[in-house]
Amino acid sequence: MKKIQEYTQLIEESLTAQNFNHQPSELYEPISYILSLGGKRLRPALCLAATDLFGGEVKKAIKPALAIEIFHNFSLVHDDIMDAAPLRRGMATVHKKWDDNIAILSGDAMLVKAYQYVAQVSPEILPRVLELFSQTAIEVCEGQQYDLNFESLDDVKEEDYLKMIKLKTSVLLGCALKLGAFIANASEEDAQAIYDFGLNIGIAFQIQDDILDAFGESDKFGKLSGGDILNDKKTILMIYAQSHSHEIGKWFGDKKEAEEKIEAVKKLFVECGAKAYAEKRMHDYYDKAIINLNSISVKSEMQQELADFAKYLILRDV
Ligand code: IPE
Ligand code: IPE
Ligand code: MG
Ligand code: MG
Ligand code: MG
Repeated sequence: MKKIQEYTQLIEESLTAQNFNHQPSELYEPISYILSLGGKRLRPALCLAATDLFGGEVKKAIKPALAIEIFHNFSLVHDDIMDAAPLRRGMATVHKKWDDNIAILSGDAMLVKAYQYVAQVSPEILPRVLELFSQTAIEVCEGQQYDLNFESLDDVKEEDYLKMIKLKTSVLLGCALKLGAFIANASEEDAQAIYDFGLNIGIAFQIQDDILDAFGESDKFGKLSGGDILNDKKTILMIYAQSHSHEIGKWFGDKKEAEEKIEAVKKLFVECGAKAYAEKRMHDYYDKAIINLNSISVKSEMQQELADFAKYLILRDV
């Protein structure tokens, strides 16, 4: 088995071994629920992989890796309220299964839990780790706000979109990898290179997420298809379609027939070349990520594993 798969499994086991069941159960049950639904666990696996790549002790990276995964799940619980999403990992979202107030509060508690986990790194690196983690967390909020702002704007440029997804998605992948570099005492240059790898792979990853939101199969993807279209999200597909299709604009806003809107917009995405364009841009960012990976001074088998993992992330259908 590949080491990265072993790391994903190690994270799964470590997560199962944690006890999030306390009182009141209304606060804690949603936390155990969302964390037990699986998911790809890619961010914590990246943290362990980076620790390994730079010759560090993988054991020392488990708590901060869990922190990253708990933070990610917190962001999903709140994101699903914001996006009015009913489905996550093939199951009801927290705000649907319980309600908005419960999703807000258990999300808040998860954010605090994430800090408790990340604070367990060695004291020598704690200040740098907390600074990076906090800066990342605030950037994710900035990205999420841009994402919401863009729903009601119709002149969003690709550049704005790239900045938005870098903030809401990429910085967390970068952070996961850079924490690994800190734990392994890598050089500044190497820590920056692995962070940049994370940023570029994160952009490619979010582009694929946007493609799958329109064209993926709900059963596999675990989220309701067409949600971005219904919310008028300014994904790369939508931005390209706005400047290459005269018809797209008429589909903005609430439409009585949700299915009809989704089908019509998907058809336009294909016809005007938006889907092909998004795929091309995704591969461009994958290529940039590989350049970052090759610029790292250490040479280890982990580099090839990370390149393969990055490829899986852009070719995935889950
Ligand atoms: C979903 O992330 C949110 C995005 C940034 C696209 P993942 O696709 O990593 O979700 P899980 O954790 O595997 O469910
Ligand atoms: C969310 O992006 C990224 C987060 C910071 C949670 P999306 O809204 O596209 O994520 P999904 O598709 O709901 O997982
Ligand atoms: Mg969202
Ligand atoms: Mg969402
Ligand atoms: Mg999405």
